[in-house]
Amino acid sequence: MPTDLGTELVDALEAIFGVHPGARRAHAKGRLYDGRFTPTPSAARLSRAPQFGAVTPLIVRCSDGTGLPEIPDNDPAAAPPGFAIRFLAAGGAQNDIVANADEGFAVRNGEDFVAFLRAVAGSGAGVAAPTPLDLFVAEHLETQRFLARPRPTPRSFATTRYFGNNALVFVAPDGARRAFRYVIEPEAGIASLTPEEAKARQPRFLFDDLDTRLAAGPVRFTLVAQLAGPGDPTNDVTILWPADRERVTLGTIELSGPHPDQEEERRLFFDPNNLPDGIALSDDPLLAARRQAYGVSIARRTGR
Ligand code: HEM
Repeated sequence: MPTDLGTELVDALEAIFGVHPGARRAHAKGRLYDGRFTPTPSAARLSRAPQFGAVTPLIVRCSDGTGLPEIPDNDPAAAPPGFAIRFLAAGGAQNDIVANADEGFAVRNGEDFVAFLRAVAGSGAGVAAPTPLDLFVAEHLETQRFLARPRPTPRSFATTRYFGNNALVFVAPDGARRAFRYVIEPEAGIASLTPEEAKARQPRFLFDDLDTRLAAGPVRFTLVAQLAGPGDPTNDVTILWPADRERVTLGTIELSGPHPDQEEERRLFFDPNNLPDGIALSDDPLLAARRQAYGVSIARRTGR
């Protein structure tokens, strides 16, 4: 019997990272924060989503990459850091943004991601060249391009730019539709560490740093939409849109402090397909692949 894509994806992640009961199969190490979102008037013109019409409470999860819940924050393999946001709009509508510090993704669809993850799992130390990963990359220029981009260790979660990557579609009050990609810009500016600086840091330095900053005051980011221009593909996350495409400031994300109940992290799940009226799915096939994989991961980690 053929296995479904979500199961194949999560099995492939587990083959690389192992099974850690209760932990997410990707971005396993994380912590929850409380905050609020204050929209700009431009946001409400683009989309009728409830969070663009009123100040809205947020719950945010900052995370390291990988499925390893104990990965040291200063391990180069902990990239990319993740930033997941849930808008808790009045009236109960919810919306998630699930972003990370990589611009673009290694592959354009879920089937290629299964093949990529299996190639990674089969290319450990001691495997003779050309490894399965060498062969995969040789056939996928988009993966070559992605892997060539630098992934420095951030100085702070508060000095990292995060990308939603998958295209979505705003639906305006009059029904007008505009495709876009989210970018989250840190108010503190972008700063990363040299490998030597990273080596000298503690294993939880990113989470400790954020707690220290929050003890001194709110930490802010600007939520931005990069709008698609004519001909920009919405179905291929490996193709970055030109940098000069119109960017609209949607509002301010303000983190106020750690969420009081960190146990809630285990029960919570964020999914970029969790959308309110006013934001629609695009034709990006990775969104459906993510929905399936996140569903399998959630079922396995919560026993549901
Ligand atoms: C087919 C492609 C992808 C697969 C199979 C995948 C897989 C997963 C899985 C299994 C989880 C854990 C879900 C849970 O148990 O709650 C997860 C979480 C996450 N993913 Fe992905 N992912 C993909 C693409 C992406 C992309 C493109 C991004 C960034 C734009 C991303 C960012 C994240 C983040 C930040 C989390 C942590 C969410 C949280 O804090 O709860 N993923 N991913």
